[in-house]
Amino acid sequence: MKNFVYQNPTKIIFGEGTINQIGKEIKESGINKVLMIYGGGSILKNGVYDQIIESLNQYEIDYVEISGVQPNPVLSKVQEAINKAKEENVEGLLAVGGGSVYDSAKAIGLGCKYEGNVWDFYERKEKPKASIPIFGVLTISATGSEMNAGSVITNEAENKKWSVGTPLNFPKVSVIDPSVQSSLPANQTANTAIDTMAHVFELYFDGTQNVDVLMEYSEGIIRTTMKHVKILLEDPKNYQSRAQLAWCATLGLNGSNGVGRSGGDWSSHNIEHSLSALYGVSHGSGLAIVFPAWMKYVYKENIDMFERFAEQIFNITEGSKQEKALKGIEELKSFFSGINAPVTLKEIGIKYEDLGKIADNAAMLAPIGTLKKLEREDILEILKIAYE
Ligand code: NZQ
Ligand code: ZN
Repeated sequence: MKNFVYQNPTKIIFGEGTINQIGKEIKESGINKVLMIYGGGSILKNGVYDQIIESLNQYEIDYVEISGVQPNPVLSKVQEAINKAKEENVEGLLAVGGGSVYDSAKAIGLGCKYEGNVWDFYERKEKPKASIPIFGVLTISATGSEMNAGSVITNEAENKKWSVGTPLNFPKVSVIDPSVQSSLPANQTANTAIDTMAHVFELYFDGTQNVDVLMEYSEGIIRTTMKHVKILLEDPKNYQSRAQLAWCATLGLNGSNGVGRSGGDWSSHNIEHSLSALYGVSHGSGLAIVFPAWMKYVYKENIDMFERFAEQIFNITEGSKQEKALKGIEELKSFFSGINAPVTLKEIGIKYEDLGKIADNAAMLAPIGTLKKLEREDILEILKIAYE
């Protein structure tokens, strides 16, 4: 294992019936007025909004709202919210939703304490120096944003879906009531599992040696996620499966699985972010397409790890190292298809002649990756594998 420092300051309140605690948490932090941020309205239909308002009222927290954060959240919405937060002199932010709302809240927090364009942080032109406290109620478990330092925003004018990571982004408190995720449509439930698995893969396959405990931890998260997403696609209201999937998602990217390694690979995420930026593809769907293709392109860089993956996750024991590694990748693709995710670019309507444009977009950040450093031409080859 490599040396590491690990500090995760986010308090998690987990379980059915916990949303009513949010007001108390905000009050006890000395915050009296928040900007509540949410998406397209799922929280109005499933009762989450009402539970939160009741809790805010009970603890006499003043609030203003901004809604309409879209999946693959955009910079213009963030800027609108920063203006509102400044005008209204809010003392904190309350994110209610999934990764898109949380990531927007993180950007808004940084923007509230910065005179320039918050995009400067995503372009790495400036380092963030301050934020305001972020609280959250998570309604879809996938990204780990509820307990991590990352924020991914799309600058829609420039087709850049880029990220910033800073300890300032850690939410102060996140409430996770898995029961409210039973209103997720089936494709979103599948997306959450794919994203969770993808975060684990980015770390698992980064090539670090002597991290047995983390390899076992990763495999546990992968197996548990695969088991419970299948149950949920049959039985969406199964609370125990929702709860286990939710905690897998948090563990997948709250840093606990990343310690002692080389920081993760992240090429597949990078390439997927270009699909989201250019075509609005949902993050989970894009990952189901890109990840197996990336694996096929790079597996020879550390064939032992891909063999281990095939053995541990899919019980593949017959054949040469290479045969096992390739069979494991095929099984993963079949698993994604089996939960009705797209697994080729063609399926989601992308034209072969556009692959160069996607590679250009992803290569703005090249070289990408740790297991194998990828330049534009490598990215293009991966997109060709992903095509059909
Ligand atoms: O907008 P509403 O109406 O609320 O609907 C949302 C949205 O359409 C819906 N939804 C959420 N909770 C629901 C629900 N529908 C019914 N019942 C509920 N309980 O789900 C849709 C997707 O929401 P979104 O927040 O976009 O999903 P997710 O949590 O998967 O977030 C994806 C975003 O996070 C980024 C992704 O790139 C993407 O932009 N990521 C953030 C990361 C981070 N901060 O660490 C890491 C990830 O790798 C990822 O890149
Ligand atoms: Zn992800």
